[in-house]
Amino acid sequence: MNPPLDSLRPHWFVACTAAEVRARPLARTILGVPIVLFRSAGKIAALIDRCPHRNAALSQGRVTGDLIECPYHGWSFDGGGACRRIPGMVGACEHPHQTAETAHAIEREGLVWVCVGKSETAPETLPVSRHVALGDARFDTFLWAATARCALVDGIENLLDACHPHFAHAGLVRRTQKRRTVDVTVRRDADGVEAIYHENARPDGLIPRLLEGQRLTSVGRFFLPATAQLEYTGADGPRFLLTSMFTPCDERTVLIHSCISTPRKLAPAWLKKTILRAIFGRVLRQDQDVLRRQQENIDRFGGPKFTSTPLDVMRPHILYFLSHPDRATRTDHAATLQMEL
Ligand code: FES
Ligand SMILES: [Fe+2]
Repeated sequence: MNPPLDSLRPHWFVACTAAEVRARPLARTILGVPIVLFRSAGKIAALIDRCPHRNAALSQGRVTGDLIECPYHGWSFDGGGACRRIPGMVGACEHPHQTAETAHAIEREGLVWVCVGKSETAPETLPVSRHVALGDARFDTFLWAATARCALVDGIENLLDACHPHFAHAGLVRRTQKRRTVDVTVRRDADGVEAIYHENARPDGLIPRLLEGQRLTSVGRFFLPATAQLEYTGADGPRFLLTSMFTPCDERTVLIHSCISTPRKLAPAWLKKTILRAIFGRVLRQDQDVLRRQQENIDRFGGPKFTSTPLDVMRPHILYFLSHPDRATRTDHAATLQMEL
């Protein structure tokens, strides 16, 4: 069973890029909670997207100065949710019931993180930035946002799953005709889990042939609350690093904000970004398609009924972390296995 979305409320999730919060209110749904984002007094603000007066959607209003104005009767709220203006009202307008509910919002490294846990509950600290190539001059890094129609765990599993590329991305990422036996090491500690695939071969998919030479390892990692990472290394270090931060919008929709890094080479960053967007865009569409179809079929049967093998390396650990939110209760784990990749 997937963990209920409500259990994730104490966590921070990426709502959007900082650049997306401009002059207009921006609507998002996180863990089933509709919110509106805007800038107030130079800072990112997040309110529950429901005007306390007659519950119109604040995201359909507009931003005036530091306030967000409701489209129905024009009540205006600051970033803390306080009502600062009620058109037609004579005298002060402040009253507890006129306050819009807030969500926690923080801007970091070009992303806006939101926690929809109750205001009185202190949110856990912001997740550690896991993308080591951010700000590293040896790498070109760009950010990419996408959505997928799937449950959170299914989306994360898809990104970290080593067995679907032969089929879902046949020829682009892997070729099924040329499998080799690979040793896999799985390590879990209190902070995350990683699966290291000791490939020691030149990959034969079209994309890795473009990006890499001899590949030593491919590594998949997962960190709470919903960060998945792929790293392909050669003799000289990482050749490709992808860190995807998943945000569950509802039970069947995820937002995915990804940092993609490749070593800086002769090609200018803009050209590389254009090429990478084109080729990974194709892979992304294949994954979006397979996930949407998976979800539609699960819904056709009224819910999931999965069976797994040891090849499904990451899912048990993803579920383990989601069901052990308290770090002190988590135990280490190590295993090795072989598979044909
Ligand atoms: S519903 Fe928002 S001001 Fe009336
Ligand atoms: Fe995929």
